[in-house]
Amino acid sequence: MGKIIFGDQILERSDVHIDLEDRGYQFGDGVYEVIRVYSGKLFTMKEHIERLFQSAQKIKLDISMSPEKIQELTEELVKENRVDFGSIYMQITRGAAPRTHMFPKPESNTKAVFTAYTNEVPRPVSLFEKGVAAITTEDIRWLRCDIKSLNLLPNVLAKQEATDYDCFEAILHRNGIVTEGSSSNAYIVKNGEVITHPADRLILNGITRQVLVELCKANGIPFVEKEFDLRDLKDADEVFISSTTSEVMPVIKLDVETVGDGTPGKITRKLQALFEARINQDTKVEI
Ligand SMILES: Cc1ncc(COP(=O)(O)O)c(C=O)c1O
Repeated sequence: MGKIIFGDQILERSDVHIDLEDRGYQFGDGVYEVIRVYSGKLFTMKEHIERLFQSAQKIKLDISMSPEKIQELTEELVKENRVDFGSIYMQITRGAAPRTHMFPKPESNTKAVFTAYTNEVPRPVSLFEKGVAAITTEDIRWLRCDIKSLNLLPNVLAKQEATDYDCFEAILHRNGIVTEGSSSNAYIVKNGEVITHPADRLILNGITRQVLVELCKANGIPFVEKEFDLRDLKDADEVFISSTTSEVMPVIKLDVETVGDGTPGKITRKLQALFEARINQDTKVEI
């Protein structure tokens, strides 16, 4: 529970009411971000806020608050709610207006609605060590998956399908080409190379993915952005997924088949260690 951000204010959650005709509620007309909190500090905050602005711009939504103001409010909320290990969810919608598909007219003075709240979320360390199972399923999303849009119905259906099979994630494919996970980016490791779908309109350019690109470059691990298919996925030496909440998560089972020897692979473990070092470096508590 705790406090939330509503517009440019921090308020008690119970004091905030969202209009029934908010376009986020009715059309999913908005964009969002999730930022991780480690030891009370926001990790890769600037990158997430920058992506929020990019997503908003791509759907022609005027945030009408500066990135600096959002950063200030976010840091304040994490402090107020005393979040130690957790996340902050933020979203912005095109505001409340009588329900018609087209954007509200400028003269209606409809304002974008910005909200954010925090959650306590422990790092899933035992899963990092054991790895997780995943299914593969068809990617039935639209063609602008680079936008972190509130419209997540295909992702929700894919994740539920994975859950029904007792799996952690659904890895999506378009006509056999692997794009990403339902809420993560997907990678294979083959002959020492990390391979992932190019950051085009068919995937979300994950912030965790961007950190991994940097870490691979800095540590001499070949990182290749190219298409790969379901056969490559099944024949991979290692498979892993990445996201803000799952960090670098080994996939050890795919559609009931074992990946590699059924344990997290060497390069995946190396990337986990490098990622953790990066978290520690960026969220060090100064004494
Ligand atoms: C569809 C999709 N792809 C990739 C990601 C990973 O992005 P990030 O690393 O920025 O969390 C997410 C995160 O929620 C996602 O929903």
